[in-house]
Order: sequence, then structure tokens, then C-alpha cells
Amino acid sequence: MYLRCSVSQCGAELDLHDRALACPRCGDLLEVVVDKVALDPPALKRQWRERRLSCDPRDVSGVWRFRDFLPEYPAGTVVTLGEGNTPLVRGHKTAKFAGLRTLWFKHLGWNPTSSFKDLGMTVGMTEANFVGTKAVGCASTGNTSASLAAYAARAGLIAKVYLPAGQISMNKLAQALDYGAELIEIPGSFDDALNALLESVNPDLYFLNSINPFRLEGQKTAMFELLEQLAWNIPDYLIVPGGNLGNSSAFGKAFEELKKFGLVEKVPKMIVVQAAGANPFARMWRAGSRQLVPVDKPETVATAIRIGNPRSWKKSLRGVEFTGGFVMDVTDEEIGEAKAMIGQDGIGCEPASATTLAGLRKLRSEGTIDPDAVVVAVLTGHVLKDTDFIIKHRKKPESREAAEVHAK
Ligand code: F0G
Repeated sequence: MYLRCSVSQCGAELDLHDRALACPRCGDLLEVVVDKVALDPPALKRQWRERRLSCDPRDVSGVWRFRDFLPEYPAGTVVTLGEGNTPLVRGHKTAKFAGLRTLWFKHLGWNPTSSFKDLGMTVGMTEANFVGTKAVGCASTGNTSASLAAYAARAGLIAKVYLPAGQISMNKLAQALDYGAELIEIPGSFDDALNALLESVNPDLYFLNSINPFRLEGQKTAMFELLEQLAWNIPDYLIVPGGNLGNSSAFGKAFEELKKFGLVEKVPKMIVVQAAGANPFARMWRAGSRQLVPVDKPETVATAIRIGNPRSWKKSLRGVEFTGGFVMDVTDEEIGEAKAMIGQDGIGCEPASATTLAGLRKLRSEGTIDPDAVVVAVLTGHVLKDTDFIIKHRKKPESREAAEVHAK
């Protein structure tokens, strides 16, 4: 394995453990290249199943169980909290609400720090440890900081988290504090916090936002686990929230690799959903353009995705195009209503995650997707991640469909 510039026209190559944050030739993002895999597809699938019976911490982790597609580290150096292994939950009232017959939720909020970030952080922190850093840092709308703080504590590293002042949920702030991170509050948005961190990055501070390609390697394993849970039957659509666009980039990379190495013949179409007030990627898609114009003052109730200048948009676009998917947005109103419905199904999630169900309902009402389509919605954060939202903005599901569900 090695690092390569993610822009194919450039293609500059670096050693796997080079600490560069960007391509030294063109300045774009780097990616980990999986160039060979030791086993054939049936043997890989068997090995992943058999590892479930083992007590090796790497097999207990739902990320490292798929380590045939991850960078290799000495067994005792892996920084893990037993992440992954999240269930696939069938939607009932939510399926009706969306107008679909088969809706599944892959709930990545049921991870150790209650968001999908743990899947990437276990790999990012293992790499940080491996290259001998003493301190790690990230900018965050809350979940990355909680996850980074926990995994840094496990690894015995100093954690510094840059947060947009007054703009993140108290629950997430409390998590970072509890795990002992140093909090640096920056006036403005997530984009300002990220710029402030990038300006202060030095050889003593290892950078762990999703620009770091090792983070995406861990996050991609969610798709390995998902398809295994579906007995390798490929759903028609995968729908995922988009903020800084790291997660959708990771999923696109997973599908490319699963296809390249013969584990699947087709892949689900990936739909990325943004909040209407923080929607530069959806705007670009609608305009048919290939140049992202940042949103200056992003605004949405879904604070996790209040991001105006997503750094991974080119990687995410590659994933959307590879899978034949598309990009869309939903309003705060629609997010609130969908979130309430996910609660009504006994599942619950944080507001950003509800963009998925809101998006599905909109797509069905426009007739863009078929009622018989098999759809998996990725829930990215736990219901307890933003309790203020629930108290302040709680919506009763008042739509016609919701009322019908209630009447049953
Ligand atoms: N959902 C939740 C709950 C998130 O916390 C985030 C991002 C996203 C979706 C979007 O994922 O950025 O990979 O497109 N949260 C980051 C953070 C930015 O700092 O916690 P993305």
C-alpha cells in the first residue's frame, strides 16, 4: 500500500507513512491505494465471518476485521474501542413516511462515542501512534472532536480540538471534555476553525480531520460490514448525509475497491444529502458544474453539517459518479419532521442523520425513485448527540402519511 494524489491527472505517489497533508505536487488530497489483496473473494468473505468467533481485539473490532483492505500495523499497536459491529435496522413507520417498501437504517451512531467518526478514528489514531506523534488535533462540528478525544485518551496522546465557538451541541462538547481534550474555540464557522487549525499545524501536532486519508480507510469498512449484513445482496440505493464530504468519499472508495477485487459485481447508487443552508455540493450538482463554490455563512439546525467549504468534494463526486448516484438537499423543516419520524420508529438519531429520510421522502414524492427500490439510509449520529434540539425543536410528525401511521 502507498499514498497517491487523489486527482488522477496528477497521480503523485508517496510512501504510505509519509505525513504530508496534501499532494506535494498539486496540493490536492491524498488517498491510500490498496494495490493487492492476498485472498480471493470467497476466501475473504469466509475469513471475515470466521474472525467473528475470535477474541483478538482486531477481530472484535468491526473495522479491523476487514484489515485485508487496511494498512498493516503490529497487532498490539492498534488503538481500538471495539468500534463497528453496528446493526442494520428495518424501518417501518419511516418506510411508510418515505413511501418505500424496503428501507433499512445502518446506524453508525451506535458506535463507542455515538457517531460514525469512530470507524475512521481507530485507523487515524493507530497511524498517529505508529509514526510516533505525541499530540493530535482536529477541527470539528462536535462528533470528530468527541471521537478524537476518546481515541487519543486510549493511545495516551494529547488531544487539541478546534471548535466553532457557540455552534456545537453541548452533548458533544461534554464528551470531548470528559475524555480530557484541550478545547480551542474559534469565532465563526467550522470552516474558520479548520483554517485556524491548518495554520497552526506543525510537526508536533498530528492532523486528524477527514483530509487525513487514514480516517477514510476506517470509514470505508462500514460498507464492507453493511454488504456482509445483507448477505452480499446489493441494495439499489445508499443515502448518506454530506457535510465535509469525507464519509461519502470513504463509501465511494469502498465500492470501487469491492468491485475492483471482485467481491461485488454491482454497487448501490449513492445519494448524498446536504442541508439547504449548507449546500455547496448540491448546488454544484444541480448546476451541472465541476467547480465547488463555497457557501459563505452556512446555516442549518443540523449543526454537524453546518459546513460551507467541504474539503473532500472531489473525492465524494468521484464516488457519486462511480456509483451512478446524485446529490440533493433538504430544508431544516424537512429534517425536523424526518427526525421525529425516525424517533417514532424507536431508532432515533441526531438531526444531520435525518437528512437521509427527508431526502428519501422528497425523492419519492417527485417520483425520482421507485417504491420497490431497496434503500439503505446511513444514520451517522446517536439520538443523544443533540438533546437541545429535541427539547427546543421537537416536531410532532404531522404530515398526512404520519397521521395515517398514528391512526394504526
Ligand atoms: N453526520 C454527522 C452526525 C456528522 O457529525 C457529520 C460530520 C456528518 C454527518 C457529515 O459527514 O463531513 O464526512 O460529510 N461531522 C464532522 C465533525 C464535520 O466535525 O464532527 P462528512
